[in-house]
Amino acid sequence: MIKPLRKAVLPVAGLGTRFLPATKALAKEMLPVVDKPLIQYAIEEARAAGIELFCMITGRGKTALVEHFDIAYELETTLRERGKPDLLDQLRGTAMPPGSIVSVRQQVPLGLGHAIWCARAFVGDEPFAILLPDDLILSETPCLKQLAEVYHETGGNVVAALEVPRAQVSRYGILDVAEDKGRVVVARGMVEKPAVAAAPSNLAIIGRYILTPEVFTHLARFEKGAGGEIQLTDAIAKTIGSVPFHGVRFEGRRFDCGDKLGYLEAHVAFALKRPDLAPGVRAFLRTYCPDH
Ligand code: G1P
Repeated sequence: MIKPLRKAVLPVAGLGTRFLPATKALAKEMLPVVDKPLIQYAIEEARAAGIELFCMITGRGKTALVEHFDIAYELETTLRERGKPDLLDQLRGTAMPPGSIVSVRQQVPLGLGHAIWCARAFVGDEPFAILLPDDLILSETPCLKQLAEVYHETGGNVVAALEVPRAQVSRYGILDVAEDKGRVVVARGMVEKPAVAAAPSNLAIIGRYILTPEVFTHLARFEKGAGGEIQLTDAIAKTIGSVPFHGVRFEGRRFDCGDKLGYLEAHVAFALKRPDLAPGVRAFLRTYCPDH
């Protein structure tokens, strides 16, 4: 029986060194794209896929991430008094139902696999989603929802997959494809950050996963992989054979917001989707790129 998907884990303990000094006192997941922080995009995407319970894997200096989803009474009162119903609605939209969000600390940054292992009690014996907020996806259907649709048919482990240029494979987890069905692929293995020459394909895993709890058996062994870190990719790879495994070539555009160029591009792409901003953005872009 395929169990319903209710839970999501959001690893947000990273130091964000690539965005210093902006991230000296600010969690990188609080960096906004247009006017919403990255973490809010991730939570909204998960809720659109039917997720009801959330666990953030945090670390020191990350309390704002949990606070962002609280009720802000003072702000609400002020907005009400000032007659700003639209802003009030937006603000209320960020408050989560009571008891739906918890946080767990990853005291030492030992890798993504270790961060996920910290959520083992939260996950228990249920399937769960993982969203890496750095990966921001602009799509018609929210990316995790696309994965959930496949999961509800196949069960097992499902990851978001994207063709990347060969030269970039060593930045990602890469799938070893056994059967390519077009939108969905069956993988026989996966490798974390392989050298270009050793990569089994150029189909990369993007930061959206639906996993069954079997992965914890392997994570609990604390085996180190690429970069000396406990890698999620390695633990998932070990479940292949006992748990179905599918990659989904999702519809949509992915922005790597852990990278400065990717982050800047995300602002432009998301702003161009906003009726209130698109004309202004188009106009100023033309002044920077007069030849286009
Ligand atoms: C992580 C995963 C990697 C995946 C990537 C997607 O790497 O370990 O498998 O391809 O996210 O963004 P990181 O970007 O944290 O190095």
